[in-house]
Formats: sequence, structure tokens, C-alpha cells
Amino acid sequence: MGATSARAGTFRIAKRLDEVGFSDIVVIRNKVMELRAAGQTVHAFHGGEPFFETPEVIKQALFTAAEENKTRYAPSSGIAPLRTALVEKLRERNRMPVTADQVIVTVGGAHALYCAFQAVLDPGSDCLLFSPYWTPIADMIRGTQARPVFVPTAAARRSGITATLEQLTTPETRAIYYNTPQNPSGVVFTRAEAEEVADFAKRHDLVVISDEAYEDLVYDGEHVSIASLPGMAERTISTYTFSKSYAMTGWRIGYAVAQEPFMTAMRKLVLYSTNGVATMVQWAALDALQLTAELRQKRLAEYRERRDVLVNGLNEIGFQCELPAGAFYAFPSVVKLSGDSRKAAALLLDKLHVATIPGAVFGSQGEGHVRFSYSTSMAAIQQGLDALRRLT
Ligand SMILES: Cc1ncc(COP(=O)(O)O)c(C=O)c1O
Repeated sequence: MGATSARAGTFRIAKRLDEVGFSDIVVIRNKVMELRAAGQTVHAFHGGEPFFETPEVIKQALFTAAEENKTRYAPSSGIAPLRTALVEKLRERNRMPVTADQVIVTVGGAHALYCAFQAVLDPGSDCLLFSPYWTPIADMIRGTQARPVFVPTAAARRSGITATLEQLTTPETRAIYYNTPQNPSGVVFTRAEAEEVADFAKRHDLVVISDEAYEDLVYDGEHVSIASLPGMAERTISTYTFSKSYAMTGWRIGYAVAQEPFMTAMRKLVLYSTNGVATMVQWAALDALQLTAELRQKRLAEYRERRDVLVNGLNEIGFQCELPAGAFYAFPSVVKLSGDSRKAAALLLDKLHVATIPGAVFGSQGEGHVRFSYSTSMAAIQQGLDALRRLT
């Protein structure tokens, strides 16, 4: 072997990362920052964060934990009081009768999902995922050297979920990623649809990786945790986050629920990836769980108001948009600008300084759309709509 090829062999990354990409969302964020740095006003609809600040009690709980020297290593799976409180929450709100040893605290929902895919998928496995999907998911699947197999959500809901899943399932299919409410479409699967997916998983002996990041943001219909359905708890890894419900995106805390043998795998993965979540953050999360249902309802009403204003405005302007039943995104068609969503989003940003995310970023089933987040102030939504009106 010559010196050049020896070097090429050394200076390369592990093969399992070859197929793993970076999100295009970062590119848009950078462009927005550039425009702002140049003194321009940007109508920012590209984000994915709650519009309100972390509640004061949660911040105070973090300060108190620090003052009380709760600053040392915690059990890598999470402090006992938090796991006990999560058991209560899961029983009451998700109808999942779990025990504390079936709950593990993670560095946000993203870490819970990363560990879940690593725990279940082998190189060469297939993993079904409804598409359009939250961008990192396909890369998390590829990072295990498994293959993401895209299930077109809208078509499946129209022509039958079971039949669509049936067509896409292979002898290699090992798992289904199931996200409700969905990012980016705002789709909330109905109970009947959850039952269909559950029955399919049982019939084909598949594991379900359930992403419930937006569980508290359902405007129409109900949130059904798929693990609460009969015979599903043992074959589901359910993932949650404090990010969206409590405006704690930067705190990096979430959790997962699983039974054996998956929980042992999750424990190993959490231990060797992060060795757990910052101890003070866990104590603060415990206080987040004490916030009242009234407060959640109040927030939900504020989101609903924003959704209605944005979606009505988009439809009036001629961007056809279904009313999303959950999460905080609208996903209108932009084909009147361009069938290429990257071009449409670039046009909106360059000409009107309206920042959105091209639908193609969420899989080919997202093409022809852009994602708007309505998790912003009502004034910002109105100003953004005014800017869009200049197009017509
Ligand atoms: C569908 C979905 N799942 C999970 C997450 C994970 O969020 P985090 O890692 O902040 O908890 C997000 C964040 O945007 C999301 O949109």
C-alpha cells in the first residue's frame, strides 16, 4: 500500500457515519443570523421552540438545587424522585401503568430517540417511518446502518394505514417510528389509527419507537400513547421531552419508557453516551412536573389562537394549508411559488425576509410545502402575513 492510500485509510471517519447527514435547517438559521447582523428585519417562522420563557419556578428550582449542593453525580438513569414523579405522570396522563425501573432520564427527546434506535436496529434492518418526518430521524436510523423506509402519511391515511404498511414491510423490517402529534405536518393520529399501527406491529412482531414530544399540544382529537394500547407496552420504546411542554429546549432533558430487554440496552447507551443528565437540571424538571393542568390549558389556548390566525391568513393569501390538529407548525403548499420547496423557501427569505423551512428537508413527501412555526408572538404572525401579502 502506497503512502497516499495508507493516509486515506487513516484519515476517514467510521463507515457507519458515511450515510449520516447534517440538517439543512442549520443553513437557514445561519442565513437568518446573517440578515439580522446586516440590520434587516426577519419574519422568523423557521424555529422549533416554545414562544414563552421557561417558567420562573423551574428556574428557581435549579438555583435551589445548586445552593443545596445537588451538584454531584446522579444515578445515570436519573434521580429517584424524578423517576417516581414521571411514573405518576405516565399513569395519569398517558394511561401507561409503568414502574420506576421502566423509566430512564435522557438528554432531551433527541437522546432518547438516538438510544432507542441504537437499542433496536441492526445493520441491514429496515425501519418504517411516517413521512414527512422530523429531519434527524432518518439520519439516526442510518447511523445504526439500518435503512429508513418512508411511509407516505397522507396517502396512508387516505387509502389505509395497514395496507400501506403491508406494502412497505420486508423480512428485514424490525421497527416503526411513530410520531404523534407530528412534526412538520401537525398531524395527530386518531385512536383508530394508533390501534391499526399497534395491530400491525403485533402481527409482524415489530418494535414501535414512539415519539411524543408534542403530547401536550393537541387542539383537535386526543393524544393516544401507543404503549397504552393492549399488548403494546412490551414492544414499545416511548420517548418524551421537557423541551416543548415546559419551554426547556436548552435544558436538555427528556425521558424514555421501555420494558426489558430494551431498558437494559437503553441504560447501557445512556451510561456510555452521557452518564446521565446534569443533576441540577433533573431537580428542576421535578418542579416542572408540578405545574398545573390549568397552566397547560392556558398555553394550549394561546397556541390554538396563533394556529388559527396563521392558517387562516395563509389560506387567504393563497397558500393552501390544512388546519393542523397538533404541535406548533403549519405546512402549507407553496407550489404557486415553485414545486421545488427549497426554491420557494429561498424566495420567501430573500424577497420578503420570511424564514421558513423547505418541506423537502422533511423527506420527499414534504416537497411542495414549507414549514411555518406559529410558536411566536401574535404581532410577529401578523407582520409575517403582511409581508406575504406583498407577494400577491
Ligand atoms: C418530533 C420531535 N421529536 C423529538 C424532538 C426532540 O426535542 P429535544 O431533543 O429538544 O427534546 C423534537 C424537537 O424538535 C421534535 O420535533
